[in-house]
This record gives sequence, C-alpha cells and structure tokens, in this order.
Amino acid sequence: MASEKVTVESLPRLLEKDACVKLAGVDVDGQLRGKLVSKTKFLSIAASGFGFCSVIFGWDMHDRTYMRELAISNAENGYRDILAIPDLSTFRRVPWENNVPFFLVSFYDPDTREPLSACPRGLLHSQLEKLRSKGCGAMAGAEYEFYQFRTPDSSSTASPAAFLQDNPPHKLPSLTEGMFGYSLTRPIHNKDYFYDVFNTCAAFGCNIESWHTESGPGVFEAALEFVDIASMADRAALFKYTVKSLGVQYGVTPCFMAKPKEGLPGNSGHMHVSIIDKESGKNLLARDSPDENAQWKDIANLSDMGRHFLAGILEGLPDIMPLLAPTINSYKRLVENFWAPVTVSWGLEHRAASIRIITPPTSKPSATRFEVRVPGADTNAHIVLAAILALGWRGVERKLAIPCPPLAVDQDVGGINDKGERLARNLREATARFMRKDSIAREVFGDEFVDHFGGTRENEVHLFDEAVTDWEMKRYIETV
Ligand SMILES: *[C@@H]1O[C@H](CO)[C@@H](O)[C@H](O)[C@H]1NC(C)=O
Repeated sequence: MASEKVTVESLPRLLEKDACVKLAGVDVDGQLRGKLVSKTKFLSIAASGFGFCSVIFGWDMHDRTYMRELAISNAENGYRDILAIPDLSTFRRVPWENNVPFFLVSFYDPDTREPLSACPRGLLHSQLEKLRSKGCGAMAGAEYEFYQFRTPDSSSTASPAAFLQDNPPHKLPSLTEGMFGYSLTRPIHNKDYFYDVFNTCAAFGCNIESWHTESGPGVFEAALEFVDIASMADRAALFKYTVKSLGVQYGVTPCFMAKPKEGLPGNSGHMHVSIIDKESGKNLLARDSPDENAQWKDIANLSDMGRHFLAGILEGLPDIMPLLAPTINSYKRLVENFWAPVTVSWGLEHRAASIRIITPPTSKPSATRFEVRVPGADTNAHIVLAAILALGWRGVERKLAIPCPPLAVDQDVGGINDKGERLARNLREATARFMRKDSIAREVFGDEFVDHFGGTRENEVHLFDEAVTDWEMKRYIETV
C-alpha cells in the first residue's frame, strides 16, 4: 500500500521500474474481472478511464449470457463498452505475482459518466455518500469462514469445477479431516500455507486480524482488520483473491460456498458495522450514558441513531435477502438448528439473532457496533455493506422504531422458539420479494439496480430449475 497519496502526477515515479499494471473491477457475483496492461497504456488512461466490455455485467459467473438479457449488456446493444476508471487510492502490489502494481477500477456509463448502477463499488460509494453528506462515515469488519480441499492433482491445471464434472464432490479430500475448532496443531499440518496467507494478506493490504481453524473439515476462519467501510469491501474481495491465488501454489482449493457439505456447519460471512462522526471519528452508535428508561435493557447503551439504524435494518431485511444470500446454496446454510439466523431478530450479544448488538459492557463505547449474521461467505462484500448502510440509514432518516423485541438470552439457536418473521427459504422467494413493486430495495437502490441484480438471480433460479441433481437420481432411481 502506498504511504503517500497516489495521484495521476505521481504515477510515472511510482511505476518507474514497472513494465505493466494489473487492473480489476468487481462483478455482481463478487468476482474480480480484470486484465494486465502495459505501463504506457495505463498512464494514458489513468485519469480518463478506458473502455471495458460490458459483458462482465451480461454474463453469469460461468460466462454464460443471461437467459433473459438485461439492460446493461445485451446482444441488442452489441455488449457495448462501459467506462472503467482506476481508483488510484487502491494502489498496492501483488506479492505473489512479482509485485506487479495493482489498482481496482469502478465502472461508469460511457455516455453520462455516472456510476454504473450494477457496479458493486459504485453501489457502496453511492450509499456511503448519503452518510457523508450528513457529516458521518462508517467502519466495517468482515469475517469469513471457508472450507479447504486438497486439489486432487495439484500438478494439473484443471479447475476444481472441471474436476467435479467427472467426480462426485466427496472425492475432493478435505485439507484436514474431522472437527477441531481453535486448534493449535491443525494449522501445523499446512504450516507454510497458513503463515503465507496471513503474511501475504498484510503485504497486499487486506490484513487479517485473527486467523484460526473453525469446527469442520479443513475449515478456517479469518477476521479482517476493522477499517473504513469502502476499504473493507475492497479488502474482502482482495482477501478471497489472495487465498485462492496462494491455494493454487500449495495445492489447496478454498471454498467460500455458504454450505459445502450437508449435515455440517456452513460458511458464514458476518459483517460488523459502526457509524462514526467523519470529523472527530467518534462512534455515533454509542450512548453517552446508559439509558435507565430504555424499552429493553439490550439498547440501554445504544444511541438514538443506533436504535434507528437497527430498526432500519430489521424492517428492510426481508426485502433485500438476495443481496445477503445470493446463490441457490446460500439458503442451505440458513436453516434451523445450525447456528445461522433464519428470522428478523436481534439481541445484545446474541449469537443466534440476525443482528447481534455489541455495546458496553462487552465492548468499549468506541467499539459499539452491529454484527449482521445473515450473510454467508459466498456474498459480495461491496453489495452486503451497501445493503446494510442503505437500510440502516433509511432507518435513521425516517427515525424508525425497532419493530420487535430482542431475542431472550436463552432463546434457542436457529429460530426454533423465535417468533420473528421467517426470512426467505430460497432464492426464488427472496428474489420475488426483492423485485416486487414497492420493495424497500427499490426505494433505497432504485429500479435500475434492482432490475439488474434481480434479473441475475432469476437467471440462477432458472438454471437450477433445469438441473437434475445427484440427490434426485439417488433418491428416485429405483423407487419410482
Ligand atoms: C451500559 O454500559 C455500562 C458501562 O458503561 C455498563 O456498566 C452497563 O452494564 C451497560 N448496560 C447494559 C444494560 O448493558
């Protein structure tokens, strides 16, 4: 990471010894899509941007054009170019690629030069702008759990997905077998990989705060350092890129699916968020002194803004589920009894609720924050954080009241005794609600984004509707 501000003027000196530059943007699925360009080319487009084929917003995650083509990129508009502008503040060097210089780009409409509605970085920035215009900012921290498999033939260049064309998933061996959370000995089985990921993330500016084994075969969990929300989203995308890249070198296939294995815990992607005063950095969710008359003791140490922000998330949560659970598989994690939240629910230090409030006495006032526990590790961090900000800030602007009481401390994990509204059970249900005429998603994000993102999810549902799974074959081959 650069210690001083990178400007167009400082680039020639910064890149003095380099021949090329790597550029990447984020697509709706959270994948980095980019290219390597010569330094000459980069210097010529660093300020003005360059044309990038819009098909990265016309393709699904396996590069198949959407069955029903969407407005941004389609055959009719010739998959025309959109404008990609490098964000110079994201400069870093890729440690495992000879320290090649690297920048993230954001995408813009080529005619209006306005942020492209579907660009996840743009989406987060436009939500953040609402806070900034009121003198506020936001901080965030991401936590990712993920399974790791041994790449079956690490000398082969075949992708794990290609391997699975000819082999059942259980043929992929786990990095380590059995359950051993917080193990000090398990990481030693793959010591070089374990330390390389930790150190490389620091060198690449997506620092890990803590890193441990989680319960499950080959499952690790990384908590990323708490930073400003826009940087956090970038870092989360770069963290996955780092782990996947180092995995290739060590014969490890990391897997961020929400639920890779039936009957075992899924992979969460919890997000911690707080709101601050932009000038002073003061945490605006913290209450100056405990509120003796609070409606529930859970919010005694939460500011009025914090209460409205919480109310906003709770009210909007059912309407934005495809953003927090974007795949068919996401909903296999969000089932009763697996420590994953399934209802509109909240509570102070409550680890079964959708929103866990963290305030004094368990934290310092300055660390007061919300942990949103619905997202899995399969989510796009820019989109998840944009959604949390959008809903929370809507609550603040409308001074919304918290719509339901907190979960009691002894209330069961996984919503068994919890009377809160059940969140969508599958991507079809979630997407229909997200796209309906007066959904809160349309109110906070606008129709263009909702129609695009919703269309991409309808595509996913459609593909799954046509798929015949091994479960069906095993269940019905003899019986019907
Ligand atoms: C509120 O914070 C104070 C410390 O500032 C703590 O002693 C108290 O227990 C907290 N109240 C609740 C209800 O958590």
